[in-house]
Amino acid sequence: MARENILVTGGAGYIGSHVARDLYGKGFNPVVLDNLSTGCRDNVLYGDFVLGNINDGPLVARTIREYNIRGVIHFAASIVVEESVSRPLEYYENNSLNAFRLVKTCIENDIREFVFSSTAAVYGIPEKVPVPETAPMIPINPYGKSKVVTEMLLQDVSVAYPGFHYIALRYFNVAGADGEARLGQNYRKPTHLMTLALRTALGDYPELKIFGRDYPTPDGTAVRDYIHIDDLSAAHLLALGYLKNEKKSRVFNCGYGVGRSVAEVVAAAREVTGVDFRAVPCDRRPGDAPELVADSRLIRTELGWIPRFNDLHYIIETAWKWEKKLKEERKVRK
Ligand code: UFG
Repeated sequence: MARENILVTGGAGYIGSHVARDLYGKGFNPVVLDNLSTGCRDNVLYGDFVLGNINDGPLVARTIREYNIRGVIHFAASIVVEESVSRPLEYYENNSLNAFRLVKTCIENDIREFVFSSTAAVYGIPEKVPVPETAPMIPINPYGKSKVVTEMLLQDVSVAYPGFHYIALRYFNVAGADGEARLGQNYRKPTHLMTLALRTALGDYPELKIFGRDYPTPDGTAVRDYIHIDDLSAAHLLALGYLKNEKKSRVFNCGYGVGRSVAEVVAAAREVTGVDFRAVPCDRRPGDAPELVADSRLIRTELGWIPRFNDLHYIIETAWKWEKKLKEERKVRK
């Protein structure tokens, strides 16, 4: 039987490439649409590749028709919280306006299933932690706001077009890499804690900055819910299955429900790497929330999601293997 094609926007990026791997593994054919602005062609190991922008209506429509696509997983977005504070126009354009154009093209071309990469940043500074999906969306940075806009758009569209259903997955802090180091993060300018910690251990940076030591948390550093990329990827496959079977729109948190502080991550990274790298306390980073931890009961009960890698050391080990491989490859290219 021919594989069903699924459009994966941003499939050349970190999360999209892992999901494309799993789609292929489950018998789908991922059709990756990516403009390679932050993604990388080398990450597209499975399915087909289309170079282009999500706001290019004719290209997206042509791709949907050509591949007879009914399901879309939309990753393509800008994702750096701090950058969004200094470049809000870019974030609203990419994450809200271009997402709007994509959704419009999807509606015009009879897309039935739409999985959307949302974020814990929609909650801002939650009153209650772990934060449930029902908590109010009061984002504190343009990144979170730009994603709220798209969630609202999807909600309205799903009411007006009864054949269209979506699932918004609100990611907490995605980390780690493919267990065999085939895929991982390779942003040109990394900003995420774990990547920077490991690159500091590799000697790429002289020190790691710890942003904020005066948060109202047990050790004063910010707390996040780190989820392994493979568990997050599995949630997308379950979401797609749910949309196909249940034909209902939903919103789910994606996290383990376990908070780890920046200081804990640094200690674990030192243990995994065996390198006692320098970490220096600095001022808080603009736009950061003190604590973001998921209440993840809903995705477990509704989608049957069972996380397999809720282990900070394992998460760091997979990222460490990947970072070492990347460094070797960079050396060979020089
Ligand atoms: N941090 C440091 N030093 C660094 C980098 C980060 O102390 O060099 C701290 C940050 O201040 C923050 C924590 O580590 O407290 C995690 O920061 P990341 O940059 O790794 O991730 P964010 O929490 O800022 O954002 C990530 C994703 C967002 C998502 C959010 C949800 O990038 O897309 O998680 O929790 F919305």
